[in-house]
Amino acid sequence: MEKILILDFGGQYSKLIARRVRECGVFSEILGFSSDPARIKDGAYSGIILSGGPASVYAEGAPKCPPEIFGLGIPVLGICYGAQLMAVSLGGEVARGDRQEYGPAIVKTVKSGRLFKDVDRSTVCWMSHTDFIKKAPEGFTVTAKTDNCPVAAMDDPGRHLYAVQFHPEVTNTAQGMEMINAFLFGVCRCRGDWKMNSFTREAVASVREKVGGGKVLCALSGGVDSSVAALLVHKAVGKNLTCVFVDHGLLRKNEGDEVEEAFSKFGLNFIRVDAGKRFLAKLKDVVDPEEKRKIIGHEFIKVFEEEAAKIGQVDFLVQGTIYPDVIESGAGSSAKIKSHHNVGGLPENIKFKGLVEPLRELFKDEVRAVGMELGLSRSLVMRQPFPGPGLGVRIMGPITAEKAALLQDADAIFREEIAAASLDTEISQYFAVLTDMRSVGVMGDARTYSYTVGLRAVITSDFMTAEWAHIPHDVLAKVSNRIVNEVEGVNRVVYDITTKPPATVEWL
Ligand code: XMP
Repeated sequence: MEKILILDFGGQYSKLIARRVRECGVFSEILGFSSDPARIKDGAYSGIILSGGPASVYAEGAPKCPPEIFGLGIPVLGICYGAQLMAVSLGGEVARGDRQEYGPAIVKTVKSGRLFKDVDRSTVCWMSHTDFIKKAPEGFTVTAKTDNCPVAAMDDPGRHLYAVQFHPEVTNTAQGMEMINAFLFGVCRCRGDWKMNSFTREAVASVREKVGGGKVLCALSGGVDSSVAALLVHKAVGKNLTCVFVDHGLLRKNEGDEVEEAFSKFGLNFIRVDAGKRFLAKLKDVVDPEEKRKIIGHEFIKVFEEEAAKIGQVDFLVQGTIYPDVIESGAGSSAKIKSHHNVGGLPENIKFKGLVEPLRELFKDEVRAVGMELGLSRSLVMRQPFPGPGLGVRIMGPITAEKAALLQDADAIFREEIAAASLDTEISQYFAVLTDMRSVGVMGDARTYSYTVGLRAVITSDFMTAEWAHIPHDVLAKVSNRIVNEVEGVNRVVYDITTKPPATVEWL
């Protein structure tokens, strides 16, 4: 398989570069900036892209890639910081600008620059830098300029080296895709035959090869990743896969049944464990959010292990790990921003030979595409993220069965109205929270003293930062009205207008 390597210098757009390359039909992967050149050479990459990054190339401890990379004979494209690093590594000069240049700039290109063969002579590009390349290294030709930037782009086609000061990967660069295309197909000579269906075929074959006739076990949560992973493995090994769906009683309204229903048509070994009572007993009187998470995670593993013991021999465990999990847990230099808190972790009391992680190389939307291809329902495939501990982190104070039922009802109303207003594809995540606060109200002619429900809806691409969604007031009014009328025990509804940071998406 042909692939492009992205060396990550901690830039905010590194993942976006990987996405853009894959959109062109070429597989891409991200590695940390200090990756061993021998490993890169062995990786048989068709090309290398150096990402942007926040540092200055002259700063102490600035991330540097081994200079041998420029002499491997593999085409290299440096972007922003990557361009400056290419310049100083090869004898050029980078200088500190008087001020930051941030935003659109008119770039004047030279047609003979191979990256610009399909680009207008004057085109809008997105700049985000303070330092700039003052002098291109010997052997390089300057192929684009702006009023502020003497070297907006440069190349040395003989050595297959290309650099741009701006960001072709962001949509604000009007002809960025033309430039990326020119690099991939004109310079790196890629074929562009990476497709989701070829991925699925290859992934099924490689799972089959790895697992052989072994027995495979999968913990199914009903979320997109574990569902798609399970189906893919099922396609590879059929009845040798057993899926265990632990319903901890803190799922959304009707969700347990929906998951069971969605999987029933595939004819896989599917075990549903209704463990709600058991979880609630463990959670009795627990108030601290971290304690709740720990208890739910721990109990989840215990239930799963008990089911596995009934099945007997297990050779492999399926994990729904996806590419952003892999990057965030340490491959790139922008690692460790988000701590992962999935329910489960790995069970200790199940002996198995290895893990099967068929989605390790995919982004979320690619996982969704595979799910659709495998025949999962659209509603499951497009499902918004739902935390492993479920409503356990949405009920403040002690958790009881009554409170869980009340929250399920309120949350279902909120979701129904968001869908009815066609906002469900615009809002990244939206849900109701049950506060531990009761207040006075009046219903009929009688006084009430009931709970307050919080509504949370956020817009985000990575869940590390988030804006609160500006839901139209009439939609909010309808949701509030329906909740206080239809859900007994609630007499007040509030809308959360806090960004992340300083708040988080979930309240607990
Ligand atoms: P926060 O609240 O950290 O949420 O801003 C960011 C994203 O992570 C989800 N989340 C969790 N997912 N186990 C999970 O599997 C958890 O314990 C957990 N806590 C938060 C949250 O729903 C949001 O999508």
